Amino acid sequence: MNWSSVVGRRASGSAGAVNGSLAAGAGDDLETAPPPADEAANVAPVRDTVAAAAAAPLLSLKGVTKRFVTSRHDTTAIDDIDVEIRAGEFVCVVGPSGCGKSTLLNIVAGLDKATSGTITFDGKPLKGSSAERVVVFQDAALYPWLNVRANVEFGLKMKGIRGKERRKVADRYLELVNLTKFDKAFVHELSGGMKQRVQLARALAVEPRMLLMDEPFAALDAQTRDVLQAELQDIWLRTGATILFITHNVREAALLSDRVLVMTPGPGRIKAEINVPLQRPRDPDTHAVVDFAAEIRKQLQHDEYAVSKPEGGYVI
Ligand SMILES: Nc1ncnc2c1ncn2[C@@H]1O[C@H](COP(=O)(O)OP(=O)(O)OP(=O)(O)O)[C@@H](O)[C@H]1O
Ligand SMILES: [Mg+2]
Repeated sequence: MNWSSVVGRRASGSAGAVNGSLAAGAGDDLETAPPPADEAANVAPVRDTVAAAAAAPLLSLKGVTKRFVTSRHDTTAIDDIDVEIRAGEFVCVVGPSGCGKSTLLNIVAGLDKATSGTITFDGKPLKGSSAERVVVFQDAALYPWLNVRANVEFGLKMKGIRGKERRKVADRYLELVNLTKFDKAFVHELSGGMKQRVQLARALAVEPRMLLMDEPFAALDAQTRDVLQAELQDIWLRTGATILFITHNVREAALLSDRVLVMTPGPGRIKAEINVPLQRPRDPDTHAVVDFAAEIRKQLQHDEYAVSKPEGGYVI
């Protein structure tokens, strides 16, 4: 990945892993050097998709199953999931409501444990949560007592990045998400779209090796969603971030991803894997994207639960 195009720096070692959880990572060492002052965010994107395809997977799941056993229910949420994601890939997951998408994402985030199966991250067994894998949720979980800048700087502070450099990194990510002018605003003064931008900037600022996004734009109005989809596409092109993205919106999947994983109704299994070979940048209103969205939707149409549940239904 090429985070250096955004923050003007890259950590040493395997793509700049940082240790410790965003939530529980206080005191983590900063492995990176300060950014050169003149490397701005407008460096041209560098994406070597051929090299990415040949590389070993960053994330690998084999036979992953998760059962939730409570006094009332015994639910197999996901069953025998095999997935590989390479560095720099943008992978979307679609599937009927309740098929286990969030369960899958939570397991990859280390917020939940698989019942069986193996998961490796960068070739090592995945253990717990880590700032290497940061989650962006549907509802922005921001700190209301902190302003926008402090929210973005929060993870950096947890990593032990000191004042001047922290401000510099935050500046770049605030610029990337178009919030420079709102850096002093508090959470209650922001729109839903702005809150999601803050959440995205906060997640990106710690340079995770994988960004895990669980329907991040689902609660936004259509217009704001369009804007944020375009911004995310641009951010991905500029940073080379590795993204696992859950959505119910097949056009969003066609617009953003390299690959779409289609899940069956619960227990969720991978029913189809669709490569999206469309050139970027993509426009959501082009025939290519609309037609591809229709292809993805076809894979979902026979899933009774998805069709019979309008609020969890699919939109093109
Ligand atoms: N903590 C839990 N305890 C018990 N059952 C759970 C728990 N979390 C999820 N489940 C069950 O696992 C299944 C999958 O849930 P999950 O939230 O992963 O689905 P989803 O695909 O993300 O759905 P949606 O699209 O509605 O967000 C559901 O049947 C749900 O009831
Ligand atoms: Mg979910």
